[in-house]
Amino acid sequence: MSLLIRAEQALSGHFEQAVGVGAPPRLVAAMRHAVFSGGARIRPQLCMAVAAACGDDAPALTNAAAVALELMHCASLVHDDMPAFDNADTRRGRPSVHKAFSEPLALLAGDGLIVMAYRVMLQAGAQHSERLLALMDNLTQGVGLPHGIVAGQAWECETSADLGQYQRAKTGALFVSATCAGALSCGHAPEPWASLGASLGEAYQVADDIRDVIADAASLGKPVGQDALHARPSSAQALGLEGAIAHFDHLIEQAASSIPACSYRDMLRQLVQHEAERLVPKALCEGYFKAHASRASGRISTPH
Ligand code: IPE
Ligand code: IPE
Ligand code: MG
Ligand code: MG
Repeated sequence: MSLLIRAEQALSGHFEQAVGVGAPPRLVAAMRHAVFSGGARIRPQLCMAVAAACGDDAPALTNAAAVALELMHCASLVHDDMPAFDNADTRRGRPSVHKAFSEPLALLAGDGLIVMAYRVMLQAGAQHSERLLALMDNLTQGVGLPHGIVAGQAWECETSADLGQYQRAKTGALFVSATCAGALSCGHAPEPWASLGASLGEAYQVADDIRDVIADAASLGKPVGQDALHARPSSAQALGLEGAIAHFDHLIEQAASSIPACSYRDMLRQLVQHEAERLVPKALCEGYFKAHASRASGRISTPH
């Protein structure tokens, strides 16, 4: 079974169980919309891949940890799209949750997903109480203070922010949680796996900044040009497009070379390389530079 299929199956199984019976139907529909909308599921796949490298001796716990990571991620997207944050009307090619269901339901759907993440882990961890405690702590670090998603989003409310610190918190931290969760769910030490998550996670946000400039809304399934519009700290703005792409390539190399020696090293390297090409396709960059060089030299007239 592929990691993606394993992640999808675990997500739908745990979601249906955790929703239970009798919850307000529009809230449940909003939560479903947030989760089952075609995300790449990279965080749960990363958790499962590291678990495989560590023996995966408690696959149900691995699945729960992976699901909890994706639920946290989906919650962060719901809140991030709301008018108080990025005010984005689309996500994953569909109306964002507040557009489809209203702002109050989006706020509650995000809250509901965060609480559901902990519930899923609590229910799966009864047989492994020590691992469960470590997994809960690990998840909290990826999401909370001082360096998790909440802190990362809050840097946008400060008058100045360090770009790297902002990116590592809003996106990198949950990737660190993902690789570490893979080890922790097997009772292994998480430290050897942290730098893979940190490098890949930071690369993810740098890629997001690049695509915000060179990609189109239809292919991304969300609005583009948002960083300039909201004056967000962005790699493309701080380093220039070519500098940002070079930084991305460096982070990907760092991610690949940080994978600890194990029988799954080649598989993990392939996963990293596959993500690199999916996130910042070489053809997309070349096409963008070609079009802009042509325009700059006046060979193509731009429509008014
Ligand atoms: C989008 O994350 C937001 C960032 C952290 C850059 P993903 O690119 O993982 O989004 P989905 O889950 O595939 O929609
Ligand atoms: C990163 O924020 C994702 C979160 C922490 C929620 P962005 O605002 O850069 O992500 P997109 O571009 O909306 O997916
Ligand atoms: Mg944002
Ligand atoms: Mg956003």
